[in-house]
Amino acid sequence: MKMSVIGCGYLGAVHASAMAELGHDVVGIDVDPSKIALLTNCTPPFFEPGLPEILTSAMASGRLRFSTDIADAAGSDVHFIAVGTPQKPGSHAADMRFVDAAVDALLPHLAPGNLVVGKSTVPVGTAARLADVITASGTGAHLAWNPEFLREGFAVADTVSPDRLVYGVPTGEAGERATALLNEVYAVALAASTPLVVTDYATAELVKVSANAFLATKISFINAMAEIAEVSGADVTQLADAIGFDARIGRKFLNAGVGFGGGCLPKDIRAFTARAEELGRGESVAFLKEVDAINLRRRQRVVDLTVEALARPVHTSKVAILGLSFKPNSDDVRDSPALDVAVQLHGLGAGVVATDPEGIANARARHPQLNYEVSVEETLRGADAVVLVTEWPEFRTIDPIWAANLVRTPIIVDGRNALDAVAWRAAGWTYYGLGRP
Ligand code: UDX
Repeated sequence: MKMSVIGCGYLGAVHASAMAELGHDVVGIDVDPSKIALLTNCTPPFFEPGLPEILTSAMASGRLRFSTDIADAAGSDVHFIAVGTPQKPGSHAADMRFVDAAVDALLPHLAPGNLVVGKSTVPVGTAARLADVITASGTGAHLAWNPEFLREGFAVADTVSPDRLVYGVPTGEAGERATALLNEVYAVALAASTPLVVTDYATAELVKVSANAFLATKISFINAMAEIAEVSGADVTQLADAIGFDARIGRKFLNAGVGFGGGCLPKDIRAFTARAEELGRGESVAFLKEVDAINLRRRQRVVDLTVEALARPVHTSKVAILGLSFKPNSDDVRDSPALDVAVQLHGLGAGVVATDPEGIANARARHPQLNYEVSVEETLRGADAVVLVTEWPEFRTIDPIWAANLVRTPIIVDGRNALDAVAWRAAGWTYYGLGRP
């Protein structure tokens, strides 16, 4: 099938490449010429495991091309909208400018029977509004909403083998046709018995935001338990294991630490709250404000713990920060707890030296005032305290005896509860976890 993917960021670039790998004829379109130049050169503009391989193979197949010209969307049967919906400056709501601009730009290139498919995470009600815009254009095209659940770091696998598919479609014949087209798009996944939910626009939009709200709530729940553990002497990691054995609860997303970040969970829960308030149901998701507050308190806790742990005043201390990206296997520093902690410690006068396997370039672009170091060894050398804030395998497997010989004072704050406290203490370190003794 011929398809266009509008927006070639973390979502769109992976979606376009994966669809071409699955046999479709795809054009990826983005307004950023540098991004398109890189992708055309088989170079992803960001770090995502597995993407270079499928991008190269899809380009070699001749089924994938990239363009800055929206007119190249003409001739496709399906047009995916995969642009960002960041937090609006000065507000908690989602900034819909990019989605609206993408649809407006696409309208002149739509033909009867085309299907516009929204993948971006949007406030409930957006699809109905955009469907009206498309209908009013008289192009004879229709709209479906098909939320994307991919996780950065696993984006390729999540796109090729999603754990579920959700189609929000209009009623009647248009809905049947939209479903048939999407079934063709996802034929491989459907043949592998991927669960499918076909529903209305509002439900499809809400599935995505409520899934992210649930995940954020789960993380903040365990981080709230960490706060209680800290004042009662309990160990939140054992608590998570114990409650996680209950199949109704499950152990996933119960890792207490410095909290969630990234381009999705934080802004999605805020946008959900803002949208619920607009709809007059703010109280229904008021708890998400608490989820956000608990999450942000954890960053402060790591900063405070570090300052308290230091054997000398913070402004005369060197603090080694392990991690900048919001999670391992990603170079994404958007709303990253790790970068936030580094910036706050720098603001308190600490001599911050930070490292990350992939996140340095993005972190430096946002915060050039910090010192960045590629080598873990040089990051640790002479440090008065070490703070682990992103649990990359490279950091989890650091030998505490080797590291103790590099630092000035063996103090470690494990902001992800990712290290073996017993081994680090045995190597002479003063070890602090979050919510564990
Ligand atoms: C998330 C959703 O998982 C995905 O389905 C959606 O499509 C986009 O948003 P992503 O932002 O890639 O994906 O990251 P995710 O793996 O969900 O992690 C989010 C944050 O939560 C990270 O900062 C991570 O470190 C943190 N986290 C995760 C915890 O602090 N504890 C946990 O137990 C799990």
